[in-house]
Parts: sequence; C-alpha cells; structure tokens
Amino acid sequence: MSDLFKPFTLKSVTLRNRIVAAPMCMYSAADGVVGEWHRAHLAQLAAGGAGLVTVEMTAVSPEGRITWADNGLWNDAQAQSLKPAVDAIRAAGAVPGIQLGHAGRKASSNRPWEGDNQIADDATHGWPVIGPSALAFGSEKVWKVPSEMTMDDIARVQGDFVAAARRARDAGFEWLELHFAHGFLAHSFLSPYSNRRADGYGGSFDNRTRFIRETFAAVREVWPQNLPLSVRLGVIEYDDRDEETLAESIALIKLLKQDGLDFVSVSVGFSTPDATIPWHAPAFMAPVVERVRHETGVPTAIAWGVGDPVLAEHAVHSGQADLVKIGRALLANPHWPYTAAVALGVKAASWATLPAPYAFWLEHHQPKPVDEAVEA
Ligand SMILES: Cc1cc2nc3c(=O)[nH]c(=O)nc-3n(C[C@H](O)[C@H](O)[C@H](O)COP(=O)(O)O)c2cc1C
Repeated sequence: MSDLFKPFTLKSVTLRNRIVAAPMCMYSAADGVVGEWHRAHLAQLAAGGAGLVTVEMTAVSPEGRITWADNGLWNDAQAQSLKPAVDAIRAAGAVPGIQLGHAGRKASSNRPWEGDNQIADDATHGWPVIGPSALAFGSEKVWKVPSEMTMDDIARVQGDFVAAARRARDAGFEWLELHFAHGFLAHSFLSPYSNRRADGYGGSFDNRTRFIRETFAAVREVWPQNLPLSVRLGVIEYDDRDEETLAESIALIKLLKQDGLDFVSVSVGFSTPDATIPWHAPAFMAPVVERVRHETGVPTAIAWGVGDPVLAEHAVHSGQADLVKIGRALLANPHWPYTAAVALGVKAASWATLPAPYAFWLEHHQPKPVDEAVEA
C-alpha cells in the first residue's frame, strides 16, 4: 500500500492523497484578474489527481506583484474572477488552496520569458519597490533599491494581507498559504541579508520575526478556524550560516504554532544571489524538512526535485514530510499522480487518481509494450 496515496486530514479538510500541485506563477493575469487560462490550467491539475491544488502567489496589493501580470486579490473583481477556478478544482475532486504574498524588493519585474529583469520605476510596467531596508537583492546595477518601509507602510501591507485573506475565504478557498519565503517581503524582514532596521522590526530575532508574527496573527483572526492556515517559509539559504538560519526558522515556526499555525511548507530562502543551492541533488531538502517536522511537531510539505514517484513515496513513507509539492513534473504531465500510482503499483491506479469518466476507460485499456504491439 502506497503512503503517497493515503488521504490526509487537517482541520475539517481531507485531501484524497498527499500530492500537492505547487503554487506556480503563470504571469497571465490582467490587472490581477484571472481568466480562461487559469481556469483551464487549474482544472487540469485537479483532474490529473492532485489532492490539493494551490493557486500561485497572488499579490495582496499592486506593488506586491512580482510582475505586472501577476494574480491579485486586492479587489472584489479579482476575487470574483477566481471563483470559476475554485469551482473547477472542487468539481474534479481536489481541494482548492491559494498562496498570498507580497514580492517586496523583488517586485516590478519582467515576466521570466521576457527577461526576468527588474523594470525602472518610470518605465512601462515598472513601479517603485519597498522593503524593510534600502538594500537591493544583488548588484544595484541590476537590482532596484527598495525604499525603507515606514510604520504606516507596515500597517498598510499587513492590512492588505488580512483583506486578501478575507476575499480568499469568501471566494471558497479551503487552504490558505502565506508566502513567507523566497526573499519576498515577509521573508526579507526575517533575513539579515535584507533587514538592517534599527527599530522594533530589525536586529534581534524577536524584532526580525515581528512582521511575520503580526501578519500571521492578523490573518488567523479572519481565516476560519476549521480551515488550514499554512506558511511557506524559507528556512535555509545554502550559504555559510545554514545552522543559524535553520535554528531561527524552527524557533519561529514554534511561535507561529502557538498562534494557530496548522502547516508549514518548507522551502529555500532565496535572499541572496550568492547562495550555493544543491540543485543537482534529487529531493535535496529532505533532511531539512524532516528536521523541521520532528523539532516543531507541525505537519510539513517537501518541495524541489521530488518529481520521481519513488522519491515522493519515500518522503511520506519515511516521515520526512506529510505532503509532497510537485511543480515542474506537473507542468510536463498534469496526470503525474496517475503515472506515479501506476509506477508505485497502486491497485486500480486510475480509480485511485482520476475522475470516473477517465478511470473507467483506462482500467480496461492497458497498452501493450511497443515491441509486443509491433510483433503482433
Ligand atoms: C513556473 C513556476 C512558478 C512558480 N511560482 C511559485 C509561486 O507562485 N509560489 C511559490 O511559493 N513557489 C513557486 N514556484 C516554486 C514551486 O512552488 C516549487 O517549489 C518548485 O517548482 C519546486 O518543485 P519542482 O522541483 O517539483 O518543480 C514556482 C515554480 C515554477 C516552476
């Protein structure tokens, strides 16, 4: 029996298996409003068999978008546009989730396939960026220097997170993930690479975690108690301070747990261009995710390079993680869960992963290996 295909219950939500369609920016919205592309894309991931389908990082304010074409949830039209996607995900048997974020000093960028560079404040599709301190992500020749956020800016962005969480709730999402990773705004308060403030939001551990703790607590107030509230946290940078960063992250997760954190999606910090991330190693985050899970007692998701079904199964079976986030393997094959179930020898793999109008026919159609078919 595969553990990857066992249901997972958290609060009042039950996922049919441990496979999560990872949040993946499509950079395909118009003024933050999604359309047919997102409905088709998300419906396809749900019909492919994932247990949880997470809508990509959705900006809580216009200046919080990575690119001008990011999803948004700062107005009701945007919330309305997400409803058909929510319905389509649910109709295909998956749980609809969404990730909310603010890109901070990494905002105002071109779409990846159009250069990925940051756009000047006064150029088309560009705007001024904000952060905890006036520090660029990398060389100032390439990266924009954010303006240091005032107390009013901090309160405003926290209010934007709360308002967006309310809209996500009203749109019918059942799983909310706050993006506190990847060097975006919330994470840049935590990281000494981006936070050199001298006030109550910088310096000590208590101060650098304040923005995240306050934002989380404020969102918890409006997000229903019976629904999972998760954070994606960058717990390691892969630089020369890994033990310190990881220990601080674990301490922060324990504090958030006291404030009602239900789940943590473990990820990389991406706070510095000088990190040495072991991309070549499959499931390279496994030991880190396992440690977070054991030391905090909070259920976790693993991500990055776990698109091999054997690795995904191992992550759940060995207790490294509760859920497995699949990204690019699902772009290549939205029916990855079915393929994985076949590869892992799950009984009646099609019924275990696919809707009946697909499963019935696949159960009775096992293609012959090519060489046998050619001989016949
Ligand atoms: C096209 C694309 C867009 C992504 N957008 C997001 C995002 O919006 N939020 C996020 O936390 N991670 C994002 N990621 C990272 C994925 O969630 C995931 O962690 C990553 O793809 C690693 O999994 P993989 O090795 O299975 O692809 C994105 C990845 C891809 C490929």
